[in-house]
Amino acid sequence: MVKTPKESLTTITDIVLPGESNPLNNLFGGELLARMDRACSIAAQRHSRRIVVTASVNHVAFNKAVPVGSVITIEAKVSRAFKSSMEIYVDVWIEDIESQERTKANEGIYTFVAVDTTGMPVQVPKVLPETDLEKERFEGALRRKQLSLILSGKMDPKDATELKALFGN
Ligand SMILES: CC(C)(COP(=O)(O)OP(=O)(O)OC[C@H]1O[C@@H](n2cnc3c(N)ncnc32)[C@H](O)[C@@H]1OP(=O)(O)O)[C@@H](O)C(=O)NCCC(=O)NCCS
Repeated sequence: MVKTPKESLTTITDIVLPGESNPLNNLFGGELLARMDRACSIAAQRHSRRIVVTASVNHVAFNKAVPVGSVITIEAKVSRAFKSSMEIYVDVWIEDIESQERTKANEGIYTFVAVDTTGMPVQVPKVLPETDLEKERFEGALRRKQLSLILSGKMDPKDATELKALFGN
């Protein structure tokens, strides 16, 4: 079975309240991570229609502070699926309420694994990317998976063929 990233698209719009801020009155990083994790979890469930667990946070870039009172929109989509694991890209946007303009604040890449009721990994549908951005994210997903497995001690770097190809080996 094959599904498009669009089929897993998950959009959550919410406001940043004072209790969720750091001493500079910007959104606390851990709070944002939790919101991103929730959006990614729903995207992974929509793709797999199974129970899913977070296996790894592969990358997060806090590029722009998010002030208290901001209206933020979190968009998550499955970019590639392997056997039981799925890479999810999540983008965070701040909305200017007056102009309605959206500014990209942060992004992250999560890995979720679909499991059965005993926690054992189960197979998920493949992904068919459609847009240029979806194709670019799909292409890079295997080397990001290999990097994540190396960093977590689950893969020997010499077996990371896709990652090594980046450096011409
Ligand atoms: C995630 C989990 C199911 C993986 O179990 P496992 O015994 O390592 O199973 P496997 O080795 O078969 O790995 C399953 C898949 O996860 C992938 N995976 C495991 N760790 C990974 C990591 N750090 N980065 C990327 N992918 C990872 C494997 O490559 C494999 O992918 P594939 O089936 O698509 O090829 C297991 O570690 C787990 O349940 N962890 C706890 C999850 C959790 O509770 N999360 C919430 C945090 S509080």
